[in-house]
Amino acid sequence: MDARCLVRPATHADLADVGEIEREAFADPWPADTFVAHLSDLFLVATNGPTVLGFLIAGIAGPTVEIMNLAVAAAARRRGVAGRLLAAGCDALAAEGVSRVFLAVRISNVAARALYQRAGFHEVGLHEEYYRQPVEDALVLARRLGVP
Ligand SMILES: CC(C)(COP(=O)(O)OP(=O)(O)OC[C@H]1O[C@@H](n2cnc3c(N)ncnc32)[C@H](O)[C@@H]1OP(=O)(O)O)[C@@H](O)C(=O)NCCC(=O)NCCS
Repeated sequence: MDARCLVRPATHADLADVGEIEREAFADPWPADTFVAHLSDLFLVATNGPTVLGFLIAGIAGPTVEIMNLAVAAAARRRGVAGRLLAAGCDALAAEGVSRVFLAVRISNVAARALYQRAGFHEVGLHEEYYRQPVEDALVLARRLGVP
């Protein structure tokens, strides 16, 4: 069943909830004080009333535009929240003239790989031992924007 949610830009007031979702979602989470700097990037939250269900952060990473972080609260998963965040993020990047977006995903992350495949991303590379805790390779995925 789809979750009722609104996707909107994140504000300072969302950062505590975002940090909690991050810590729940990842074995090697971003430090809580990292998020404030990303308010100037494309930083979206999906909300249901006052509840933050998930978030997406994208921005310039080296020579490319990259989705740098995406997570949904465990209690809100498999209800289309990440799909909506991804669609809204890609639409916003396309509106800014970005033609191709990249991301990295753990090889073992079956859920995220299925999500990205369904959203039109395809494999373009591999970063060996890219992640810590546990050490693991990353698949690099890309999607052209403006192409269905
Ligand atoms: C990956 C993640 C963001 C997916 O969020 P979500 O809101 O549950 O995803 P959605 O409900 O939008 O799923 C869309 C599609 O992705 C695929 N998918 C999502 N979770 C899946 C799972 N656990 N197993 C298999 N496929 C999955 C399915 O194709 C799904 O469509 P369906 O439910 O109609 O079958 C979420 O599981 C999460 O936060 N995981 C921990 C953090 C993480 O891994 N982030 C990505 C880092 S690269």
